[in-house]
Amino acid sequence: MALSGDSESTSKSGAVHQVGPGPGSFPSSPADPDCGRASGAEHAPRANREITKPMSSSDLPLFLSQWLRAPLRMGALVPSGGALARALALQALPSRDGPVLELGAGTGVVTRALLARGIAPQRLVLVERDPVFCRLLRQRYPSVRVVQTDACRLIQSLAALGIHEAATIISGLPLLSLPFTTQHQVLRQSFRLLVPNGTFVQFTYGLASPVHPALLRRLELVGRPVARVLLNLPPAVVWRYTQRDAASPPGETRAAA
Ligand SMILES: C[S@@+](CC[C@H](N)C(=O)[O-])C[C@H]1O[C@@H](n2cnc3c(N)ncnc32)[C@H](O)[C@@H]1O
Repeated sequence: MALSGDSESTSKSGAVHQVGPGPGSFPSSPADPDCGRASGAEHAPRANREITKPMSSSDLPLFLSQWLRAPLRMGALVPSGGALARALALQALPSRDGPVLELGAGTGVVTRALLARGIAPQRLVLVERDPVFCRLLRQRYPSVRVVQTDACRLIQSLAALGIHEAATIISGLPLLSLPFTTQHQVLRQSFRLLVPNGTFVQFTYGLASPVHPALLRRLELVGRPVARVLLNLPPAVVWRYTQRDAASPPGETRAAA
């Protein structure tokens, strides 16, 4: 993966290496070690309560039991750590209008980082197929819409809610362990929903682009790694994808295969 040519800076914690210019920055002075405190005009008071509410003492047993039922569908033994969640949330711009979709929300660690980032809860839509996780997400984030569905049926499921576009899509789906046709369906529908210049953000534990090279060509996507998160189990890389014709920031190149 061609990270070496990109400029990098290290976060205060040393955990996240931003690769190249990022779309924005986190609110300062995080309230707890896992997440930043809410700030910004977009926050409703309700959202503040939701993000300062602590996560359950440990989501590990639940995550592990869901992994034992369907390891390929889960793709990870443990939820993403706070540093990875923040690196993903950093890719969503609070100033940009429109829904922010989170695919494969799991226990909601990335959701919490998105709220802390300043994304208003009314803009967030969580897409998760596991009914146990959906129940937990609804309890944890009562102001955020949770859609229990397969991400393969994204357009149809969101249309039922009157949602026909997205500003940003943050994916926690285990793309690499999904069949090619499933990857294709998810990405094709995601880019139909995304506004021009909208971004699809995906993390991976692998070294290369988590989107299959054939799909990059077929859907005319460009991607680049935007952050390396060393303090995650396992370390992860955050990739950002856009449609090739959309105006790309300087230095944007086709994803390494
Ligand atoms: C690696 S976990 C990520 C969970 C969470 N985002 C995190 O970072 O901790 C993958 C999640 O994707 C969900 N998932 C897998 N396949 C899915 C699909 N086709 N549609 C919707 N959700 C899916 C799983 O149930 C699981 O919650």
